[in-house]
Amino acid sequence: MQKITMKSFYHLLIAVTLLMISSFSANAEQEEEDHVKWWREARYGMFIHWGLYSVAGGEWEGKDYGKEQGGASAEWLMNSVPIPGAKYRKKLAPKFNPTDFDAEEWVSIAKDSGMKYMVITSKHHDGFSLFDTEYSDYEVMDATPFKRDIIKELSEECAKQGIKFGVYYSQFKDWYHRSRGKTKGTMTNKEYLAFVEGQLDELLSNYGEMTVLWFDVGGSNVVEADSQGARVRELQPDCVICSRLYSRQVPVDKQIYADFNSLPDRMLPSQRMQEDSETCMTMRHNWGYDKNDDAWKSSKDIVEFLALCASRGVNLLLNVGPDPQGNILPEEKKRLKEVGEWMRVNGDSIYGTTSSPVDYDFWWGSITQKENKLFLHVLEWKPEGIEFNGIIGEPEKVYFLADEKKEALSVSYDSEDKVTKIQVPKDMPDYRDTVIVAEYSSDIEVDSETKGEYYWYTTRSKRHTKVKSNKHAGNTKNLHAVKEAR
Ligand code: GLC
Repeated sequence: MQKITMKSFYHLLIAVTLLMISSFSANAEQEEEDHVKWWREARYGMFIHWGLYSVAGGEWEGKDYGKEQGGASAEWLMNSVPIPGAKYRKKLAPKFNPTDFDAEEWVSIAKDSGMKYMVITSKHHDGFSLFDTEYSDYEVMDATPFKRDIIKELSEECAKQGIKFGVYYSQFKDWYHRSRGKTKGTMTNKEYLAFVEGQLDELLSNYGEMTVLWFDVGGSNVVEADSQGARVRELQPDCVICSRLYSRQVPVDKQIYADFNSLPDRMLPSQRMQEDSETCMTMRHNWGYDKNDDAWKSSKDIVEFLALCASRGVNLLLNVGPDPQGNILPEEKKRLKEVGEWMRVNGDSIYGTTSSPVDYDFWWGSITQKENKLFLHVLEWKPEGIEFNGIIGEPEKVYFLADEKKEALSVSYDSEDKVTKIQVPKDMPDYRDTVIVAEYSSDIEVDSETKGEYYWYTTRSKRHTKVKSNKHAGNTKNLHAVKEAR
């Protein structure tokens, strides 16, 4: 046997050490990336706006201040009227007694809708906490007759039902506690910052796994934001942090603790997003409960929005604003149930997908992708056939995702223009979003010369643009049929 000399022993030792260091740093990188992985694959979550403002439902002393009246959203009531902190508390806190609240039911509703995570307002701008905190008595246990820790009940129920749990936390705006400029709160600015630190520690220590910290309306003080972000990392390293920890004025490369880019409310970006992104969206105008807001979106609107978000690489956090008794509203339940029915059949085209292979969409809808499959989300029907350009080669098999038998649809491919055309039946099988799977025998290859444009929600107010002027568009009779169904 060869004798190991001292020199070769040292070489071996150095090599082993180097190997250990490199595999350690690879693991560290891996871990860092991994803590956002579940979130990226989840694509669809529930947002809940609930608090003292829900008792008022957008009204104060007989006047309606809700968003449907052109004002701010219902949870802004204290600021919209405006109402002094002590008066707001005195009027609303004794009435906050949501005896219908049932965490099991709320979590089941989210789960049945296909949502993978939940984010609830633990403290909104009005400063009221929905959890048991020792840093203020302006909270559910001390100031209301309800005396149940809502965050505890929901976090435990989410753990039970396998839904990731997170909290919204208004770290910068607090109209009740924080003194700023001429506005007098119950605390000096310095006391307020210590209070936020204390509350973050409670939220990150007392409620099991905290998977999302959804900060909102960050200030421009980066040192303040960084120290809050660092505290989250320290106590729950896997918690996914919302970019609203920082003000939008802070350059992206300075937002060091932000794990995902929270896009402006309700925004569908007019391009694919490269970084992890999320859009939060209401089902009507207001986030918090409002008595008079009847601008409901249909379940088709929601399914469409979810599909379009996924095809631009964006998560959808869909809001509910429960009533003061603790009920998710019947209109919300109905829509969530219908989205859930669609998701049970078509979830494969949303969960774990990446954005469209091409940076444009189509007259009929848009595409998501997973490995060698394209999912064509057909939102408007064209009996003459569904076609797309930009992908090289013919798919091996094309079928409806809802079809268990995967019966093949006939396809033609124009290798000159790289246009794939799929023959479809006359009537649209699912008016909300009919998903067609195009499966390729090898990796999907994009034509580098390809061109196209966006048709869907290119402005916030228009669902679909350029329909009439587009030569690929179907006839208006079909459009009309869809409108009626909505
Ligand atoms: C805006 C509103 C706030 C709401 C949030 C949800 O920041 O001001 O009330 O909670 O949007 O994204």
